[in-house]
Formats: sequence, C-alpha cells, structure tokens
Amino acid sequence: MRTKLIAGNWKMNLTAGDGAGRVESFVQHAESRADVDVVVCPPYLAIPKLSEILKYSSVKLGAQDVFWMESGAYTGNVSARQLYEFCVDYCIVGHSETRGRFGKLDIPESTLGYFGETDETIKLKIQALFMYGINPILCVGETKEERDAGQTDEVIRRQLEAALEGVHPAEMHLFVAAYEPVWAIGTGDVCDSEEANRVCGMIRSWIAEKFDDDAASDVRILYGGSVKPDNAKELFGYPEIDGALVGGASLKPEDFSAIVESV
Ligand code: 13P
Repeated sequence: MRTKLIAGNWKMNLTAGDGAGRVESFVQHAESRADVDVVVCPPYLAIPKLSEILKYSSVKLGAQDVFWMESGAYTGNVSARQLYEFCVDYCIVGHSETRGRFGKLDIPESTLGYFGETDETIKLKIQALFMYGINPILCVGETKEERDAGQTDEVIRRQLEAALEGVHPAEMHLFVAAYEPVWAIGTGDVCDSEEANRVCGMIRSWIAEKFDDDAASDVRILYGGSVKPDNAKELFGYPEIDGALVGGASLKPEDFSAIVESV
C-alpha cells in the first residue's frame, strides 16, 4: 500500500520570514494525518529556516531544483550535498518551468531559452540526488499542442526514458514521478481525473517494463496542475494517483491543509 504524498511547490514566492509563518500555521494540521506524507518545497533561501522549524516534525522539506556537480565553479547553483546538510528529503527535477515549457506565458518569449533544462541535465540531477538519498520528484507532462496532436503518451515516455537512463532498479525506491500537464499549470484548467489516472497508470506500466513490478507497485505517481481543495478529493479517489504536487494552493495554509485532508 503506497502512502499518499502531498507536496507544495512554492515556486519563487514568499520570503524566508513569510514562509516560516505559513509553515507554522499548517504544520500541526499536517502532523495529525500520520497516514499522509506532506512535503514543502520553498525557494532555496527559506530552506535553512524551514529546516530548523521542521526538524522534529513529520512534515518533510523539499527543494525546487539542484545542480548535479558536488562543488566547484558553478556560480549561482546549489548541489545535492548542500541540500543534504539542511535535511532536504525531496527535490523537484525537470519542472516544466525549469525546462522552459510554460503553460501560461507572462515572461518575454525571447527569454525561454535561458532556463536551460535538458533531458541530459535532468538525468544528472537525479543521479546526484540518489547519491545523497534525496527523493527526486521528476515532473513529466505534455504541452497543449502536444496533447492536441495526440502525442501525450509518447512525450511522457520519452521524458521518462531520458531521465531514468542508467538508473539501477534498487535506486527506484527513492523515485517519485509527477504528471504535470503543462497546460494545467497555474491556469485553473485541471486535467480530467479519469485522464490523469490513465496517464499515471501509463507511467506505472512504463516503470514495470523498464525496471520491474516491485518498482512499479512501490513508486508514487503524483498529479500536478491546478489542484485545489475542491478538486483534490476526486483526483485522490483514483487508484493510480498517489497524491499531488500543488503550486498556487500550497501558498495558502488553509487550502493546503484542506488538500491534505481530502486524502
Ligand atoms: P498550480 O497548482 O499553481 O497549477 O502549479 C502546479 C505546479 O506547477 C506544481 O509544481
């Protein structure tokens, strides 16, 4: 039986001070649900403060990205080793925003190339996280154009294949996948639950084929994209959906608590 996992991705929101206040106001509630794994992924700068607050809590700390080298002349980057020092247990990898595949564009199109995430860097990041026992949350998902062209499954399989190349089945116990259709992120346009369940099931079958049945039955596959208190319960009722990666609603303690409560 897989434990459901609810992860909040704060993206580039909240200062360390604001974030500490938010976490304190939902931590007690989250702790009352011992049957659910709850993770918060704040911006890097809030990690030291949140690490202190969550030290004795069942709520886990996550990061939003990582650089694959351990140390060196890589200005502006943060390594898995540096995350490990602050007891970071989870790390998002390959988010559509770091891949430069935005659902809703509010930045100049000419800047998209600067996000720089490729299948190769995603693979290296996952390997670096495994070295430190940090659970990668790999985001996969199609754009609106890809869905309309009937390429959803093909795009996702390609993303999985590239990210997990060379991974040993024994490492898969740390792995978490998140199906995040790009068109559903920050748009309020949630994916139909039945379809989200189908895609999560397709990801699980791919893992069974590539690794083994144990890896497939243990892996947690989340859905992300406009998850809110009013649609969470329906999504979590489907057998292939093991939880959610929540953006906007994770910034409001009462909404995030309600999503945890819907499990
Ligand atoms: P929203 O929940 O704001 O749509 O964001 C989803 C997301 O990108 C989580 O990583």
